[in-house]
Amino acid sequence: MSKPAFELVRDAAAALAGVAGDCAGIDAERLFLAATGWTKSRLVMDAREAPDAASAARFEAFIARRQTGEPVAYIVGTQEFWGLDFTVTPATLIPRPDTETLVETALAHLPPDAARTVLDLGTGSGCILLSLLHERPRTLGTGADISDAALAVAGHNAAHLRLAGRATLVKSDWFASVAVPEGGFDAILSNPPYIGEADVVGLMKDVRDFEPYTALTSGPDGLAAYRIIASGAPARLADDGLLAVEVGEGQARDVAGLFAAAGLTDIRIRQDLAGIDRVVAAKKARNR
Ligand SMILES: C[S@@+](CC[C@H](N)C(=O)[O-])C[C@H]1O[C@@H](n2cnc3c(N)ncnc32)[C@H](O)[C@@H]1O
Repeated sequence: MSKPAFELVRDAAAALAGVAGDCAGIDAERLFLAATGWTKSRLVMDAREAPDAASAARFEAFIARRQTGEPVAYIVGTQEFWGLDFTVTPATLIPRPDTETLVETALAHLPPDAARTVLDLGTGSGCILLSLLHERPRTLGTGADISDAALAVAGHNAAHLRLAGRATLVKSDWFASVAVPEGGFDAILSNPPYIGEADVVGLMKDVRDFEPYTALTSGPDGLAAYRIIASGAPARLADDGLLAVEVGEGQARDVAGLFAAAGLTDIRIRQDLAGIDRVVAAKKARNR
């Protein structure tokens, strides 16, 4: 007979303190729920009950994996983003709350009831594209990625969220294999890799050792993808179309400069919930 649930979670939180810091309790609880299939309310109501032996063993194995630094999302296989559940694997970046700022920026540009087209470059799990399609039922979208394995996950998420009929997923080196709709895309979005190659060693262990290298790094200064995206976007945007990208801390001014050099106008920088410059957005000038 295993220990009661509350003791298992409490002991696991203590065991994770070194690797998870302030999040140890949250991680332990999330891993417990995934291992046992219990709901959060059952954990509160039945805290003195012991889970069955198989669940307890699964929980123990999950904790051992987390102790190596493996992120919770890869252990449980899902991550919530924009209120939706996304499957994630080690082939995909784990969606971050910061990226919701990019979704908000795009939604402000896409009228709720109009038929629009969007392109998400470096779609990964598909979290940006699929959140937009979920919010905008008449919008059609393309998600491009260089990784076959990431595209398979995005395809699974599209099907699971019943959005596959409006999402085209394509293997492409940025714009190279993307089919542009007549008149151009109404919005092009991207959360590209933006860490400088030499800076990878300074990342947190969870990120550096577990998340895909191609999802993280972009040339020596971290700006390589932005250069390609900024220079390629104008030819593929509709008049008045939006280009919006997520940026790393301290990159907003450089990226805004790349957008200006590409002839884009109405350049704006948006902050995330922590007040950090997180999104650079611009428009393609209307043809007169
Ligand atoms: C930072 S991740 C973002 C994933 C997802 N959009 C998100 O926000 O969680 C960057 C993505 O760009 C993809 N990528 C890297 N190089 C690429 C390239 N040359 N062409 C297209 N996609 C690329 C990676 O495979 C990865 O999925």
